[in-house]
Amino acid sequence: MPDSTPPSIITIDGPAASGKTTLGRRLADSLDYLFFDTGVMYRAVTWLALQRGLGMGDEQGITALAETISIDVRPPSQEDGRACDVLVESRDITWETRQPEVDTNVSVVSAYAGVRRALSIQQRKIGQRGRVVMVGRDIGTVVLPEADLKIYLDASAEERARRRYKEILARGGQADYQEIQAQVIERDRIDSTRNVAPLKAAKDAVVVDSDQLTAEEVFLKTLEMCR
Ligand code: CDP
Repeated sequence: MPDSTPPSIITIDGPAASGKTTLGRRLADSLDYLFFDTGVMYRAVTWLALQRGLGMGDEQGITALAETISIDVRPPSQEDGRACDVLVESRDITWETRQPEVDTNVSVVSAYAGVRRALSIQQRKIGQRGRVVMVGRDIGTVVLPEADLKIYLDASAEERARRRYKEILARGGQADYQEIQAQVIERDRIDSTRNVAPLKAAKDAVVVDSDQLTAEEVFLKTLEMCR
């Protein structure tokens, strides 16, 4: 008899705005698993560091912050397009973590070894409980290398910038396509060239290129892998 149990730990990694959150959320919903987006933790640390006036070059200060703050990520309490609630010291900072200033600085903060260590420990604890879809850059390679199914979701920078652009407009925000594209490319450059846990596909990951696929097609294709 073939084993028909769905994979318990599913990881989705990939470059900025490749559709990881949309896919992860749908997979988690359909399997009744926990959806956990690790990007929000790096964004929360970045936002708080900016808030407290720390320089982005202050590795020691930002690391100390990552080691001490408690970031709570919970299922969405509102239907305003959020994938989850992000709380820091009981304050809901979900939309603050999406500010352009955070987008610009998050990759610098994420490259700090101490920040990664502090956040990865928490991510690993949550992931090891199983029945989880965890999304990020290094989940299949570093955080949960024992995962049962690893997906690496890719798309061209043009397509990814287009998606992020539409997302911002849909939320009623303002955006410049060229600026978003430049920022997405720069973020990927920093994320994939850093020394600690760089963005890359795990050797045993299934690479899905979503350039020619709709979100629905990506979902169905990956759901098939879970069955
Ligand atoms: O949603 P988007 O793809 O734009 O980004 P995100 O997943 O929210 O991640 C924001 C940033 O956090 C990334 O550009 C990385 O610098 C960092 N990150 C990371 O280093 N490792 C992770 N596991 C998740 C995010």
